[in-house]
Amino acid sequence: MIPQSFIQDLLGRVDIVDVIEAAVPLKRAGSNLVACCPFHNEKSPSFTVSPTKQFYHCFGCGAHGTAISFLMEHHGMGFIDAVRELATRVGMAVPEMERSEAQEAAARAAPALTELLAKAAKFYKDQLKRSEAAVNYLKNRGLTGEIAARFGLGYAPEGWQNLAAVFGDYNSPQLVEAGLVIANDEGRRYDRFRDRIMFPIVNQRGDIIGFGGRVLGAGEPKYLNSPETPVFEKGRELYGLFQARQAIRKENRIIVVEGYMDVVALAQHGVGNAVATLGTATTPTHLQKLLRQTDRITFCFDGDAAGRRAAWRALEVSLESMVDGKQVQFLFLPEKDDPDSFVRAQGAEAFGRLVAEAEPLSHFMLRELQSRVDMETPEGKAAFLKEGEALTAKITARNLGRTMRDAVARAAGMAPAAAPAQYERNWRSRQEAPQRPSPRRAAGASLEQVVLLALVGRPELYASAAHGADLAPQTGLWPTIRTIASLLEAGELAVGSAAIFQYMEDNSLGELAANLQRWLLDLGDDHDFAAEMQGAVARLEEQQRRARWQEAARGAKSVGDLSEEARELIAGAGRP
Ligand code: UTP
Ligand code: MN
Repeated sequence: MIPQSFIQDLLGRVDIVDVIEAAVPLKRAGSNLVACCPFHNEKSPSFTVSPTKQFYHCFGCGAHGTAISFLMEHHGMGFIDAVRELATRVGMAVPEMERSEAQEAAARAAPALTELLAKAAKFYKDQLKRSEAAVNYLKNRGLTGEIAARFGLGYAPEGWQNLAAVFGDYNSPQLVEAGLVIANDEGRRYDRFRDRIMFPIVNQRGDIIGFGGRVLGAGEPKYLNSPETPVFEKGRELYGLFQARQAIRKENRIIVVEGYMDVVALAQHGVGNAVATLGTATTPTHLQKLLRQTDRITFCFDGDAAGRRAAWRALEVSLESMVDGKQVQFLFLPEKDDPDSFVRAQGAEAFGRLVAEAEPLSHFMLRELQSRVDMETPEGKAAFLKEGEALTAKITARNLGRTMRDAVARAAGMAPAAAPAQYERNWRSRQEAPQRPSPRRAAGASLEQVVLLALVGRPELYASAAHGADLAPQTGLWPTIRTIASLLEAGELAVGSAAIFQYMEDNSLGELAANLQRWLLDLGDDHDFAAEMQGAVARLEEQQRRARWQEAARGAKSVGDLSEEARELIAGAGRP
């Protein structure tokens, strides 16, 4: 078994154009690429590859699929070999293919692990009340009981085997597996966390999946974290995300900080929309998770050299994961400050001003690149162009990619058109030989088809799609729309066309996928799916209003017969 999330990450990283081009010479046709179909005999090309949506589709024989399907169908590989092959190409390690019995057991044990962790968290929380030193530590850091409770803060007391009294069987392998107990080489067991302030790490469902433990005074390590376990993977989790949900919705912004205490201290000062990576660099998975929750991400890094390095890493990851219409910004604190010390010294308002003035990703990138070279010399400009080119080539968001490549060219004093041809590597220009019909409305499509098409074409519209599916009767394509939208929302499906197509292939929806692809290719990349989705959902709302009006007015012969509710409905809907 290969985890679905891995398949989706993989599809997000490989470029189907590279995969197919290695076997079939492709020619540009507008924003797509075409070839004579390798799956059937033909003289003129009807095999089309979409670099933006990462699928192939033959208008002649109907062959279609993702990079994985191509290797399976064209090279005759099995699914696992195809995944392996692609992973090698992009340098990803495939997680264990076949689960060993131990892993199967671990998967079955996952719910049990979170129960153990919850029990430990409760113990730590109770212990906090009993430790004057721990309570004083938190008070000195400016925290109230309310905030401590909101983050479930606790205290792991001194002593080697306190958990023995909490759990009946201290020798249970599950305690080790949960990362609560360490078994040394001699088989001795002892509590991992001793004499530390405990920060429970909570997943998006609200389950406790691990801990960070801080020493009360000086000591190494300052923070001790849970090891990675079947329920805790550092590169996927963000501290504080669960507690921040409401504030994120309200502000439509997530502030990403570096430390546990930064999140908690900001919350203490009323800034509730901060989350922290867990002592790791920002990963693409983090970014995707964040972009699903909000339109604006503000990275807030410490004002030191490490902070700048972390910011650059976050920028690189953001370039790959950005979605048009979303914003990533960077905020640098004064040197020697972190968000915790800043908000405590200057207050939430001052912090809010910094957030409001955060630097857009594009500015930060250009500024940083320019600072590394001497822009007054042609050599410096050339070096700048090279770096800028390499970075902007990673951008998969269509419009951001274009404007950033323009900006790089302009910053080097060149007209955008003079930018090197490689810029168009991912976005071959439309000017050349547009063979398919120019973009048009999805004419003749039913409402459900419009919604599904928009969802597949612009998966980030899933919230509107889910809303539409909720309004419609649960027949026809609506259940499918709702399922896909909710998988996207829950983060169980990556927000990308390829992931959706792979999901459809895996769930006997291949035929439907093929039809959608044909439509998408006809509509072209410039098609305004957002507007179309909006229109469709508005029409659904209208339909529903009418249905309710008809229902309310049933049997009434004159206005006088109408119930109050019916009158209100009529007033709200205008004319029936
Ligand atoms: P910092 O060293 O910047 O600490 O580590 P901090 O957040 O300011 O902590 P306080 O204010 O002194 O309490 C930032 C983050 O790096 C990880 C933790 O996630 C921490 O919050 N870290 C740091 C560790 O995992 N282990 C360490 O020993 C230190
Ligand atoms: Mn700090």
